[in-house]
This record gives sequence, structure tokens and C-alpha cells, in this order.
Amino acid sequence: MSMAIVRTALMRPIRASVALSAAIAGFAAAPAVADTAAADLQPAALESTRAIANELVTQLGQKLKGTIASDGPVAAVGVCKEVAPAIAKSLSIRHGAQVSRVGTRVRNASMGVPNGWQKDALADFDARLAKGEKPADLEYWKVVDTGNGNQELRYAKAIVTQQLCVTCHGKPEDIPAPLMEKIRAEYPHDQATGYSVGQLRGAVVVTRPLNAD
Ligand code: HEC
Repeated sequence: MSMAIVRTALMRPIRASVALSAAIAGFAAAPAVADTAAADLQPAALESTRAIANELVTQLGQKLKGTIASDGPVAAVGVCKEVAPAIAKSLSIRHGAQVSRVGTRVRNASMGVPNGWQKDALADFDARLAKGEKPADLEYWKVVDTGNGNQELRYAKAIVTQQLCVTCHGKPEDIPAPLMEKIRAEYPHDQATGYSVGQLRGAVVVTRPLNAD
């Protein structure tokens, strides 16, 4: 296992030590580990990573809203299926990172299942939402030594269910029949229904080598 520094934060400039930022946020952010790796996380690296995650959310949201407005929600299922991975892939290539979305429950099991650290991030977000933190502020990251002096940044930004999302991720009985049929046809093992507004839906996750900036 590699050494990791875990940090969670509200949107605020990153200069405080782990201990200080944990104290400000009012919770223990990390197991007690050496603070060496955190010193290597430049604010610029965090900001550019945050920008990648935000871009995925923005591009996808626009495309989704546009398609629902012009062609309806059944057609928009195709947007999620084709366009979401395409946007994630193009951002990944452009930034030399791995960018994707994961869910607390997933529709596409080949794309959206969280790995170990991503599960930790989701659990952290859930706990912080329950404590009343604002959805838009929820992010999580850690710096991990990957050997040979290399480090990797693992970053997650919470995706919280909005009204728009309930169209396709709400209670099955509230989803119009033709739309539900389309979802079931495309995703026979779908688990990503039953969400309500304000609930944690998943996260945008970005993994990138820190020396790539
Ligand atoms: C038009 C229907 C539709 C709407 C509206 C919609 N989604 Fe989805 N969502 C899907 C489909 C289809 C997938 C599976 C995409 C794939 O194959 O990768 C999906 C996948 C996801 C995933 C990836 C994890 C998984 O379950 O596979 C997340 C996270 C997600 N949606 C969040 C949202 C959020 C947040 C909103 C609202 C802003 C939203 N969705 C609105 C249909 C929709």
C-alpha cells in the first residue's frame, strides 16, 4: 500500500496544513500520516483538476438539457450513453488524466462502478451531506505515492441529484413508461433509479499524475 494524504475541503484556497484545514472544516480529514505529499499538491494542480471535473458536468448538463428540450427524454438516454463517455474520454486525453463518473448505484456497470478510493470519497460525501454541507462544495482528494518518486492526484467532486436527473433516476413508478422501457432495454441491470432531489448520485472522478501540469 502506498502512503496517502487524504484531504477533504470546502471550496477554499489550499494553503493550510492538513491539520489546519481539517480543523476549519470541523472534522478529522485523514488518518495521521506524514504531511510530505500534501506539500507537493500545488494549488494550481488542484484548481486545474477541479476545472476538468466542472467541465464534464457543464458540457454534459448542457447537452442533456438541450436534447431533452428538443427531442425529449427518451432520446436523451442516448446522450447519457454515448456523449457522457465521449466527453470524459476527450477530457482525459486533453489533460493526460483519467476522467469518469461513478455512481452510488449504477446504471452502466461497465463504466460507473466506484473503485476503493472512489467508494471512500462517496462515503465521505454522504456523511458531509447529512451534516448539512452544501452539495456544490463537496470535493475530496488525496495524493498517493505511486513509486519511483511519482505521485498521483485522486480527485472527486460530488454529483447531487437535481430535478432534471429525477426524470431518469427517480422512482421507477414516476418515470414515464416509454422512458422506463428505453432505460430497461439499454440497461437490463440498471440500479440507478429511486433517487430524490438533494441525494448523492455519484461523483466525477479524476486521476492524474501530478508531474503532468
Ligand atoms: C435522459 C435520461 C437521463 C437523465 C435526465 C439523467 N441521466 Fe444520468 N444516466 C442516464 C443513463 C442512460 C446513464 C448510463 C450512461 C452510460 O451508459 O454510461 C446515466 C448514468 C449516470 C451516471 C454514471 C453512473 C451510472 O449510473 O452508470 C451518473 C453519475 C448520472 N447518470 C448522474 C445524473 C445526474 C446528476 C443527472 C441530472 C443532472 C442525470 N444523471 C440525468 C440517463 C439519464
